[in-house]
Amino acid sequence: DKGNYRHFMLKEIHEQPVVVAQTLQSYLRPVEEQVALPQMDFDLSTVERVVIVACGTASYVGMVGKYWIESLARLPVEVDFASEFRYREPVLDGRILGVVISQSGETADTLAALRHMKANGVTTAGIINVPTSSMAREVDLLMPTHAGPEIGVASTKAFTCQLAVMAALAANLARARGKLTPEAERYIVHQLTEAPAAMNAALACDEAIAAVAKTISTARDVLYLGRGPEYPMALEGALKLKEISYIHAEGYASGEMKHGPIALIDENVPLIVLAPAGPLFDKTVSNMQEAQARGAQVVLISDAEGIAQAGDNCIATIEMPKVAPLIAPLVYAVPIQLLAYHVAVAKGTDVDQPRNLAKSVTVE
Ligand code: M6R
Repeated sequence: DKGNYRHFMLKEIHEQPVVVAQTLQSYLRPVEEQVALPQMDFDLSTVERVVIVACGTASYVGMVGKYWIESLARLPVEVDFASEFRYREPVLDGRILGVVISQSGETADTLAALRHMKANGVTTAGIINVPTSSMAREVDLLMPTHAGPEIGVASTKAFTCQLAVMAALAANLARARGKLTPEAERYIVHQLTEAPAAMNAALACDEAIAAVAKTISTARDVLYLGRGPEYPMALEGALKLKEISYIHAEGYASGEMKHGPIALIDENVPLIVLAPAGPLFDKTVSNMQEAQARGAQVVLISDAEGIAQAGDNCIATIEMPKVAPLIAPLVYAVPIQLLAYHVAVAKGTDVDQPRNLAKSVTVE
């Protein structure tokens, strides 16, 4: 039931503050101000390496997870597309935690990668939305997302719930390895607790996004830029746009622009820049300005501080609440989803059932 919404995707975008809060309930102990994981029969502190495998949007959660787990838990992390992982004879020696991420829990390549890891003696965990799925049954540690059924082919609420669980996993690994002071853990719990309200505030950008979507809908190509954890978010923004509006889009790490993609820039290629104020802001902005000097039409997604500093020559600025870096990916997911949505609506494409795509990809 779409309720009052025109499409399932729009409904699911708006459900995010609630389902992320629901999901976090299983991973936070607010009274003790601690993060938590479901009961498991292995010792997280013995993990020497994390290998994350997923497809599509779920793989971008893995990439964000790499930033989080490496910085918080100081553990090396590899992230792979499931379809590449199992055909390249990955080295699986040592104490590995293998993590699969999947909304459906049935994606053929991810399931095969999970079985490959298990057959090689890897301890596995799964961030999975459908609790009755094959992956949910087969992982050693199930870390459920509580997004509820996701109907739109473009993943939205499952994605942000996966990010929430990934943040909790990173913090739990950090604690198990003695890398998290009680103060740091308390800070993480507070940030994650605030994420749903911040996502709710982000939803207020809907009108501003709908207005700029008209311009974007006439573009042939669109580029997304981000740095740090916002780099995988740039990839996610580009995938969402391609998937439902059929406009060619690519996401790049901001610093990579001048190593090739900047050659694509002219006044016909809109550039969507994801840049929360913070330590990486100035660098991203200087990459953005290099593109502006070549005529790029920039949509800057940032907070009030970032917009005040760098918003002047942009065709639009989309204001996000000011948030801690840890939860920025959860918050910045909202405008990129809404942008893809409104561009698709402006183009009149089938938002919930884009051509050539299936909700669950059960062929390899
Ligand atoms: O069910 P899964 O999470 O395993 O699906 C993985 C991808 O097929 C999926 O995320 C796909 O990329 C989405 N349609 C993206 O919106």
